[in-house]
Amino acid sequence: MTLILGIESSCDETAAAVVEDGRRVLSSIVASQTDMHMRFGGVVPEIAARQHLRVIDPLIQDTLREAGVTMDQIDAIAVTQGPGLIGAILVGVSYAKALALTYGKPLVPVDHVRAHVHGALLGVDVPGGLDAIFPCMAMVVSGGHSNLYFMASPVDYELMAHSVDDACGECFDKVAKLMGFPYPGGPAIEKLARSGNAANVRMPRMVGQKSKLMFSYAGLKTHMVNLWRQRAREIGGPVPESEMADMCAAFQDEAFEQLTRKISVAAASRPESRSLLVAGGVAANGRMREMIAERIRLKPYFPHPRFCADNGAMIASYGYHIWRSGRVDPTDLGWDAYSRYGFQASSAT
Ligand code: KG4
Ligand code: ZN
Repeated sequence: MTLILGIESSCDETAAAVVEDGRRVLSSIVASQTDMHMRFGGVVPEIAARQHLRVIDPLIQDTLREAGVTMDQIDAIAVTQGPGLIGAILVGVSYAKALALTYGKPLVPVDHVRAHVHGALLGVDVPGGLDAIFPCMAMVVSGGHSNLYFMASPVDYELMAHSVDDACGECFDKVAKLMGFPYPGGPAIEKLARSGNAANVRMPRMVGQKSKLMFSYAGLKTHMVNLWRQRAREIGGPVPESEMADMCAAFQDEAFEQLTRKISVAAASRPESRSLLVAGGVAANGRMREMIAERIRLKPYFPHPRFCADNGAMIASYGYHIWRSGRVDPTDLGWDAYSRYGFQASSAT
């Protein structure tokens, strides 16, 4: 039995978890700062970093207590190395390095975006274990990324497609803001879309060419801005809720139509794939789950709703697999945090 403590602080959630053997979550606590950033319409980096600093120590103590373990029983620590808000990440990384030094524990730095994928496998008990799941396709759909990978194993990621402009979740947030919903707006759009009829609003198709393995959401956002303003002008007042619901339904379907089209094309080029893992904040969306299950021939795995958004359990789980693979030297603490890809000094994970 291997116990990993996972620590996450890359954006506006301070989170930690204790996970056994990469999949069994003994405890997972997430302290969200959403309320603190809401009035600014987005996450304020300086406020985020200071709040992480305030809560990280008691949060980790609570996480260990809830799991019924002490630091002595923890086999290794995993922490988000990047990408994200650098001041926020540094809080988690500094805390994790100090903890590793104090208790003489191995420390595994992990990539936050890749770690999301492992959220889809938390608590999942598949006959045949990981061999029944890998190789697989894996899609991370969050506020910052729309990344499609082919994964030969739990630690081998080959990026097959990504967004060339806005991320899918970012597009939901921007459209929601336009309609007057608070940040993050994805859940509000999904809720309103349930009472709408997508067929009532014509939507443009983005990245229609089959051969183009990429995502693009900026055009869809611009289309929604124009549509919204035009209707408001024509009506000469607020757009009625029933019409808003139709717009949300059409927008949502087109956003996910693009996802499913590109996943299908990529999966066809990797016939050895045994499953499809879908993770990230947007993976909480019920309509997306429905469309993926209907349109893609691979067996899909989605995270439990509490493991879609940022959490420490996905960090612990990915850290467990990296640790077991022997690809990093977990006694080496000489690595840096990174905010964006391309800026990391050294990272294989
Ligand atoms: O993974 P996440 O918590 O944070 C990032 O690392 O970005 O994802 C947050 C994103 C936000 O854009 C939010 O609007 C979106 O996930 N989201 C949703 C839903 N729930 C959260 N988008 C669509 N439908 C939802 N139900
Ligand atoms: Zn995330």
